[in-house]
Amino acid sequence: PRFFALVPAAGIGERSGAGMPKQYVDIAGKPMLAHTLAALAAVPRVAHTLVVLSPDDDRFEAALPHHQGWVARVGGGSRAESVLGGLAELRRRGATDDDWVLVHDAARCLLRPEWVDALIDACADDAVGGLLAQPIADTLKAGDAEGRVTATVDRRDKWAAQTPQMFRLGLVERALTAMGAAATDEASAVEALGLAPRLVRASMANFKVTWPEDFALAAHLLETK
Ligand code: C5P
Repeated sequence: PRFFALVPAAGIGERSGAGMPKQYVDIAGKPMLAHTLAALAAVPRVAHTLVVLSPDDDRFEAALPHHQGWVARVGGGSRAESVLGGLAELRRRGATDDDWVLVHDAARCLLRPEWVDALIDACADDAVGGLLAQPIADTLKAGDAEGRVTATVDRRDKWAAQTPQMFRLGLVERALTAMGAAATDEASAVEALGLAPRLVRASMANFKVTWPEDFALAAHLLETK
């Protein structure tokens, strides 16, 4: 089997307050998406990376003028639909059920090639697949609409799910088709089939740039790496 990466980049990034899709915001001299793609391109075992854009994206060519890799304008209204569109495009380009697909958020631009290698090493012989993740260090609270604590949640077995998430094409396609837009990641859809993806520890630095204050932190980490 081969390894493909699939980067859903069709979101609008509402929470970022950036006024444009956040993957195009300049961070440390390059659009966020360019950092993300550079990290994946630095993993020799990844045969190709497919970027999934919204059909009405009008910024990609100007933001990444030298991009040579695979791009498909098949994004949908949810992350799961964007990924499903990308999986169908990978099939059109020759990928088969048994090939591995590493789905990675465009917004995790701090990705390091060595974390991708660790994921592939841990999962390539696994029956299910797995994801990068980080054990929770903070004490976890549940809260209500008024911002008051309703419960303290046992953190001991909790992990923050990151990406890439790596599953065989046939499995992840079946899982996302069954779960639909409710799936906020690939692993949750695979879990709903009764399977247990492997958790592979990465780093808190593999965070998803989401909130306005995240851009400065990402820029600092990229400038000092
Ligand atoms: O919204 P969220 O931060 O969970 O998005 C995670 C990733 O999924 C982002 O890279 C975003 O661009 C992508 N996405 C997408 N299509 C959507 C929604 C999100 O490709 N409809």
